[in-house]
Amino acid sequence: MRGLVNETRAKAQAHLMPHFTKGAAWRDDKLLVMERGEGCYVFDNEGTKYLDGLSGLFCTNLGHGRTDLSAAALKQMDTLAFYPTWGFANEPATAAATMIAEEAPGDLDEVFFVSSGSEAVESAMKFARNYHLSQGDDQRYKVIARDWAYHGTTLGALAATGIPKFREPFEPMLWDGARHVRNTHGDVVPDGAPASELESVKAIEAMIIAEGPETVAAVFAEPVQNGRGALVPPQGYWQELRRICDTYGVLLVADEVINSFGRLGHFFGSLRYDVVPDMITFAKGVTSAYQPLGGVVIRKPLVEAVWDSPMGAYVHGSTFGGHRSRVRHHPGDADRRRVRTCAPLRGSSESRAREPRRTAQLCPGSPRHRLLLRNRVHARSCERHRHLRGGCCSVTERSAPRIPPRRSTARASR
Ligand SMILES: Cc1ncc(COP(=O)(O)O)c(C=O)c1O
Repeated sequence: MRGLVNETRAKAQAHLMPHFTKGAAWRDDKLLVMERGEGCYVFDNEGTKYLDGLSGLFCTNLGHGRTDLSAAALKQMDTLAFYPTWGFANEPATAAATMIAEEAPGDLDEVFFVSSGSEAVESAMKFARNYHLSQGDDQRYKVIARDWAYHGTTLGALAATGIPKFREPFEPMLWDGARHVRNTHGDVVPDGAPASELESVKAIEAMIIAEGPETVAAVFAEPVQNGRGALVPPQGYWQELRRICDTYGVLLVADEVINSFGRLGHFFGSLRYDVVPDMITFAKGVTSAYQPLGGVVIRKPLVEAVWDSPMGAYVHGSTFGGHRSRVRHHPGDADRRRVRTCAPLRGSSESRAREPRRTAQLCPGSPRHRLLLRNRVHARSCERHRHLRGGCCSVTERSAPRIPPRRSTARASR
């Protein structure tokens, strides 16, 4: 057994190229080889058990080892593994799109599938440009994002990413349409002042004006920005972003690649901050990473405006977008109910009694899961646990504002 363990490690070190990993770490003879998972735990191939504090990479919201999910994919592969969504519909992609549209806020009713978060971000960038072009607005190509925000690594998404160490090696960028403004870190308004007085809000409006509103296509922001340490927005911030974008005809994009599917105690982080953006990007938790899937949910009137325009189409696509075996992994009805009960769990003894343990496992952003995580990490703060990093769940806990009551009218309110 020991020999096999070392053999896999040695072969990985010889042939498998890691992502974002220094050579010295990869060559280390303590390199972990992960083997299997169960709920919120993973095991390496020497049998050591770890609490997966980061849910993979903000991914496995439904927990590890769900054989019902793998069975669904297997069944789909046996029926018809692949057929493109270029001009053809299919049942699994339609069911997944319907589920996502039903959970998304307001009139975000159109779902475009891709294969990763970076692709989702690029698809939103291109849709923004495509939409403005279809309306005869041919100057609007720039996007505004925030300092230290992570929006992905492919060259389009990287242009929006604001983390210097990821950007700088690749500058000048292939595409120079992205601008960055200050994020919400440390930003507070003096007592009683409105959110429009926030420096982080003023910076966005100032950038739009400086660049020329007629050149700006979209503003990209995460509801809770992960880069720079889980930045919870000040009260009213998202409402101000919505107001500014409406004022200047700019589309508002919530990048929810890690904020959605229960991470913030709601299906979408935008629901938590009570805002209806024009687009929401998602990935990761959408399938709990049982398959690679990403996408964009778009407000229906925007899609219809494109279809009804002389352009007639969103000129974008990828072979694996809406891949049948991948979209089979979206949460089923039971999981949807569990994700929805995350928010009430905080105060509701009734829902706590209904879903006592499993919710903690299912929803990494839920209060029960955060508590579980904190207790376990503190209790076992051994060297091996530290390997797996603390995870956003424990980081967001202290600064998260009271969860607003989930509005059953969220979709109708627009
Ligand atoms: C907010 C955000 N956007 C985009 C991405 C890129 O996703 P992917 O790594 O699937 O390309 C990430 C990845 O963590 C992310 O956190």
